[in-house]
Amino acid sequence: MKKAITRNLIVTALGLFVLGGQITVSAEETGEALYKTYCSQCHGIKGDGMGVNVRDMAVQPRDHTDRVAMSSRSDADLFKVVKEGGQAISKSVLMPAWAGAISDDEINSLVKHMRVLCQCQHGSGS
Ligand code: HEC
Repeated sequence: MKKAITRNLIVTALGLFVLGGQITVSAEETGEALYKTYCSQCHGIKGDGMGVNVRDMAVQPRDHTDRVAMSSRSDADLFKVVKEGGQAISKSVLMPAWAGAISDDEINSLVKHMRVLCQCQHGSGS
């Protein structure tokens, strides 16, 4: 009986520890977590465009580690395509629109995360 109570206390303490950790994550970590949940099945966990869906897709997802392609886009373009979908920048509808599912703040963290993946900024070239 006493043992069970102690075990429950330990489990509760661990749970609080995990919750506490989630509250303090930075914008970039949130972006990374969102990317894993919503984007990696197409764009790949590493962002290299090699997600599990790719084999069956007529249009291949952008490789977000591609510095040249990604630096040709402004943060506003990246925001727009994530929010409104591929068609918003004359790209494929296979890139879904995330408005409604993902908040503007979260889209901003995703844009930051894509800048980490490409290690580039708009206009930083090759
Ligand atoms: C169902 C598959 C799929 C999912 C899920 C997906 N994408 Fe895409 N994405 C695509 C495809 C396909 C393209 C390329 C469209 C084209 O080239 O016409 C693309 C293109 C993009 C582009 C445009 C890059 C450029 O400049 O050409 C961005 C930015 C992007 N995706 C971000 C994201 C983010 C962020 C997420 C997660 C919130 C996400 N995508 C989820 C399929 C997907």
